Amino acid sequence: MIDKKNFKKQLGETGYVVIRNFFNQKTKKNIRDFANWYSKALIKSWEKKNNNQKVNYKDKFLYKKIINYYKYFDKPEYRRNPKKNFANSHFYKILIDPSFSKIHELIQSSKWHFSFIKNLRFKSKLLPWSISNWHCDRFTFRNFKDDNFKFLIIWLPLQKLDEKTGSGIEIVPKNIFSFKELPKNYLNLKNRNKLFYLDQFEKKFKKTFIPKVKFGDVVIFDSNVIHRTTNAKKNFPYWSMDLRFEYGTKISNETIKGGIDMSKDEKYKFVKLINSRKLKI
Ligand SMILES: [Fe+2]
Repeated sequence: MIDKKNFKKQLGETGYVVIRNFFNQKTKKNIRDFANWYSKALIKSWEKKNNNQKVNYKDKFLYKKIINYYKYFDKPEYRRNPKKNFANSHFYKILIDPSFSKIHELIQSSKWHFSFIKNLRFKSKLLPWSISNWHCDRFTFRNFKDDNFKFLIIWLPLQKLDEKTGSGIEIVPKNIFSFKELPKNYLNLKNRNKLFYLDQFEKKFKKTFIPKVKFGDVVIFDSNVIHRTTNAKKNFPYWSMDLRFEYGTKISNETIKGGIDMSKDEKYKFVKLINSRKLKI
């Protein structure tokens, strides 16, 4: 499934690797269950006291219909990413997939921590938050300047994404431009939130890459890689998830507090987590 030599070579040069059919059927089902759980929670929060719309919460593909409900419930306002820490048993069932440990083996580092950030999102032409600026995920962390602080982002779509659909991920290859080339005075800006807007450097992004992907594939990229989401061209929901794994000698304080050391008692820990986090919805 993963060619070790090519993986390291490409990650080192361009900063990203696309792996086809990364997940097995079981994990794909767990990802769908997680998206359905999330959709259910969201739709419940949109429901009004007196409405006639019957929501079929048992629908196995509820997440694919979220835009219909969004329209029905008068386009309710909500934050794009309502809760960063919404891990539950569905989520841990995804994380236990052995493919994640295979990536750890490939990068050959003694450290492997699942970071506290876990995003599950849907986008649509109808939604105002579907477009993102050019940015670098390192800025999410306080110690973003530390060279010993490293992480990989694993981005996965829940359906096909290509140039016709839009809403995919657009990447600036590391050998074209990356976090490392950002001017020092820029990185010294006091307000960390301001660092997220890298559109001003767009002239430097001579060549970008938009992977064509389907459900089951993953795009893995390193924390120095600059990227953004492309415009959604259709209304149907475009679901994607992104996870982060830290592997440098420095692990962020955020992850020490809220993440999981994947190299320790992995199986035992996850079984415990899966059993302890019962679903409320
Ligand atoms: Fe990002």
